[in-house]
Amino acid sequence: MEAKTSLDYYDALDDEGQFDESGKGFRNPRPVRPKKASAAVQQFIKKQDDSSQAVDFTYKPARFEEGWLLDSLGYFFEQKWISDVLVKLKGGKEASVYLCRSGGQVDVPLLAAKVFRPRMLRNLKNDRMYLVGRDVLDEDGKQILDLGMLKAHHNRSVYGEQIRHQSWIMHEFQTLLKLNDAGADVPKPYETSHNAILMDYIGSEETAAPTLNTVNLGSHEVKPIFKRLMQNIEIMLKKGIVHGDLSAYNVLYWEEQITLIDFPQVVFPQRHPAAFQIFRRDINRLCTYFESQGLHNDPANLAASQWKSAGYRLRPEVHPAEMNAEDPQAGELWRENQKPD
Ligand SMILES: Nc1ncnc2c1ncn2[C@@H]1O[C@H](COP(=O)(O)OP(=O)(O)O)[C@@H](O)[C@H]1O
Ligand SMILES: [Mg+2]
Repeated sequence: MEAKTSLDYYDALDDEGQFDESGKGFRNPRPVRPKKASAAVQQFIKKQDDSSQAVDFTYKPARFEEGWLLDSLGYFFEQKWISDVLVKLKGGKEASVYLCRSGGQVDVPLLAAKVFRPRMLRNLKNDRMYLVGRDVLDEDGKQILDLGMLKAHHNRSVYGEQIRHQSWIMHEFQTLLKLNDAGADVPKPYETSHNAILMDYIGSEETAAPTLNTVNLGSHEVKPIFKRLMQNIEIMLKKGIVHGDLSAYNVLYWEEQITLIDFPQVVFPQRHPAAFQIFRRDINRLCTYFESQGLHNDPANLAASQWKSAGYRLRPEVHPAEMNAEDPQAGELWRENQKPD
């Protein structure tokens, strides 16, 4: 039998931590991502993995999580971005977020490391919807132009899955960079490894910031927080970004301030024909939370006015070259497109 890597084992764990022998692993025919720890650290990781000794981090991962964790965070550790992993903040189906002690590369005491689970992409429903109009990004966040790699990405081979995984992570990282530069309330991102993003941690050493859905805002906070969120959305639209999974679950609340998180699925208004529908869903979900806090809005109007004031059209543009002149429906669509919003 082919040797399984720790990733394979971790991927096969169900949520109770049971290992399923028949589970399909995440094969790695050729490394896509160079930002892994060096051979020395890899060797160290392997030794730990094989002998299942506890690694000297404060956080003691489960046996199969350990290999995955070190594989994902080894690079940060080696590059002295982090010196310790303190605690797992959240473990989800798509990613787990760990609180780390900073290694001194930046002048903050704590950092958050978002580590993606290999099966994340397989869990992703309708991920094709999010891939429309997005470049495939390499490990440096640059568009991949290599046709072989693009074909693999399209065909969903195992190798293609690695490329998609990497591109997915880099879309989140690039978005955080862009939005942080633009002054939006997002965690400042610092570095990526082949499977993780390192960013500012929101919270204190004792308590991580809760997500907004778990918070009952004081009555004086509701309007200012809503306004701040809308300002963030304006910034995002100006930068050509729709979050795509925005809701109170992806907003952190700490000391009366908000931070938007979780960006891998971003879509681009000028390149995605359903961007407005996706945007409207984001606004709807936010409004549902604020409704529960006593603030009523008309989400349909709000979404349309934000969209238009950012200069986008409500109707998707369809290029004439993509229309069939013989098709009466296409003719109808063409006439629709000519109308002003
Ligand atoms: N920078 C951060 N600081 C503090 N907690 C964070 C940070 N980023 C994420 N978290 C926590 O981890 C959880 C999962 O992160 P998220 O990016 O939303 O990934 P997922 O795709 O698993 O929802 C969040 O709900 C939040 O509780
Ligand atoms: Mg989330």
